[in-house]
Amino acid sequence: MAKRNIVMFGDELLRKRCREVTVFDDRLWVLLDDMYETMTEANGVGLAAPQVGILKRVVVIDVGEGKIELINPVVTAAKGKQRDKEGCLSSPDLWGYVERPAKVKVTAQNRYGKEIKVEGKDLLARALCHEIDHLNGIIFTDLADEMIEEENEKGRK
Ligand code: NI
Repeated sequence: MAKRNIVMFGDELLRKRCREVTVFDDRLWVLLDDMYETMTEANGVGLAAPQVGILKRVVVIDVGEGKIELINPVVTAAKGKQRDKEGCLSSPDLWGYVERPAKVKVTAQNRYGKEIKVEGKDLLARALCHEIDHLNGIIFTDLADEMIEEENEKGRK
């Protein structure tokens, strides 16, 4: 495994729509392992492939409930609302309040191409939405209704 460089806000890579993954090989597995290491070393709770410069629909999340790997994720249901502070590993010290669904259901594939379903509420729902947005070139500042600057290393996505 190797830590990768994180792409920062302002880079056009974060504004691209990422491609579907069709090949589930060792290159994908290395990417997933590298993304997880990069995320945990940065104290993040989620990371999307474009944040390491790879324009593929790949996401890793760990909000403290274990590692989740999602390939080609799609939100299939959303319920309720929550508004909370959100940050991104691509924007140190920048936080914003974003309204998200309280609960979401996501269908994706695992690293072997098998279909999986994930349900999340609260922080996990927020992380799922935040990361899937990254795959479509959307960043949280597009959605935030209030921005704040704060030095906080923990919990970014
Ligand atoms: Ni992010």
